[in-house]
Amino acid sequence: MTNNNIYFIANWKMHGNPTSVNSIRRVIGLSKTKKFRKVRIIYCPPYTLLDKFTNKTKRTRIFVGAQNCHTKNEYGANTGSINTKMIKSVGCKYVIIGHSENRIEGDTDQDINYKIKSALKEKLNVIFCIGETLDEKKKNKTQKILKKQISKGLYKIKNTKNILVAYEPVWSIGTGIIPKINDLQNQIKKIKLYLSKIFKKKDIRVLYGGSVNPKNIKSLKKIYEINGFLIGAASQNSKKFIDIINKTIN
Ligand code: PGA
Repeated sequence: MTNNNIYFIANWKMHGNPTSVNSIRRVIGLSKTKKFRKVRIIYCPPYTLLDKFTNKTKRTRIFVGAQNCHTKNEYGANTGSINTKMIKSVGCKYVIIGHSENRIEGDTDQDINYKIKSALKEKLNVIFCIGETLDEKKKNKTQKILKKQISKGLYKIKNTKNILVAYEPVWSIGTGIIPKINDLQNQIKKIKLYLSKIFKKKDIRVLYGGSVNPKNIKSLKKIYEINGFLIGAASQNSKKFIDIINKTIN
């Protein structure tokens, strides 16, 4: 595991109600301890709970992010949508963009690029998700797909300081299956190499996401190049989430 800060991003997806915010109390407590000094926790609950989460985590070292945003950086006649200004206005510092579940629902690389630009304009940090499907993997298209997602998603973006890239193989999300550790290490290295080539920078952080849980974290943390984890199902249960964090830093 890297010696730098380690990110643990809790992606709650379409789960949670107003009382769920109380379940993170222990995580907040632990985040204040010396042991968690290098740990960066970011909760991404659904839009309906963003305000509650930012209030609950005020004056703590925990940040809050949205799970998506609209492509436009303005207010407008877009029923059912939320723009990055609105996300910022409730105290969020992050936004997930390009999650495969949103790509499946229609987000194109160009939409993702607009969303990222809109988020950066509001000085939000972006958690930019990339990943190949099982079919693409079987057809040996992984590198091609990841390069396309990166080059189109980050098209004409110069400042990468506020971007975290999350590599999430689609076949690993919610399936309980993670890549072989060697394969994953090679993949993260390739992503970092590609990013450093296009941005002429070496320090772009890359996270892993897909079925991270308290059982597989010990193998995953062996990968030095990983800067943290994007965690879905296991992050909704504070006991499991804390277990994952503890096992990573111990
Ligand atoms: P999972 O989800 O941990 O439940 O596989 C990860 C994600 O989709 O971000």
